[in-house]
Amino acid sequence: PSLFLKASEQPVDDLEREAVQSYFHLLGQHSYPAEGGRVLSCYSSSVAMVILARALATEIDSVALIHPTFDNIPDLLRGADLRLVPLPEKELHEGDLPRKVIESVGCVFVTTPNNPTGVVLAEERLRSLAEQCARSGTILALDTSFRGFDTRAHYDHYRVLEDSGCRWVVIEDTGKLWPTLDLKVGWLARSENVGLPLAKVYSDVLLGVSPLILALVKRFAEDAAAGGLADLHRFVGEGRTTLRSALAGIPGIAFPDQDTRASVERIDLGTRSAMEVWSAVTEHQVYTLPCRKFHWADPDAGNHSLRVALARSSFTVDAAAAALRTVLAGT
Ligand SMILES: Cc1ncc(COP(=O)(O)O)c(C=O)c1O
Repeated sequence: PSLFLKASEQPVDDLEREAVQSYFHLLGQHSYPAEGGRVLSCYSSSVAMVILARALATEIDSVALIHPTFDNIPDLLRGADLRLVPLPEKELHEGDLPRKVIESVGCVFVTTPNNPTGVVLAEERLRSLAEQCARSGTILALDTSFRGFDTRAHYDHYRVLEDSGCRWVVIEDTGKLWPTLDLKVGWLARSENVGLPLAKVYSDVLLGVSPLILALVKRFAEDAAAGGLADLHRFVGEGRTTLRSALAGIPGIAFPDQDTRASVERIDLGTRSAMEVWSAVTEHQVYTLPCRKFHWADPDAGNHSLRVALARSSFTVDAAAAALRTVLAGT
């Protein structure tokens, strides 16, 4: 009730400024663009993505997109008639991208930490990529929805982006850290020089998000700063240990993302079919995700892996791990 009262009485601009400030500082993003309406609040990161895709399509026709990644990113970019060029995750993290690639597209899009792999773009790699994009005038877009789970993604990205002088856009998301009842905000932040009609497309789609959710996000961010975030990291880590231990020793089973801290875990099933395992564990009321769709440019590459969500109660993760063990040990 006190949050409802606060949300109905406090000016919405204030609530928005406080929510943005608490969230961005919590995750180390001290140099975010606090002035000039350069952080737009959206109902979700997918809505931010729709706005970005439509705005990009007014200026450019192609995007180099990290591969694999969460499937609604390629879906929404393609939905705006943008041509996609796969950017293999490994190449992106190993060193500079070939100039030819950067110069052949209007935008480079990176999900960091990535879903489903959890791989984080290191500060030096971001700096170098941003400088490459600045030299060619290519827009650099980041989806940092999973940032909250991994402190290695808490270096100040906005400092690096601003220093490079490149044209940049970042999508932030409270909805992965605090998925409670889908009460979330997606933030669309941009550089001064981005040269895209983001504010115009935004105003075509929405006017603003619920003041109640802004007030709630601020409270969540304060709670996280007071120890909640560290608790959450521990909690996700325990879920990962439970799952990995339960499946240890089953022939052909591996965990390809050894270094991940994301709230998801990929299981490499060896020769087993992800669809068959998915179907068998569903009979135990355990819901996982076959990985075909993450491999948006080569779906067959996901035929033998499953993704499991870890931000669930320990009871649920225990039950899921046991069901997976039963199914995998028997196949
Ligand atoms: C990296 C990434 N970006 C965006 C989204 C979309 O989030 P939402 O469904 O809250 O819009 C997801 C969803 O899982 C995601 O993993």
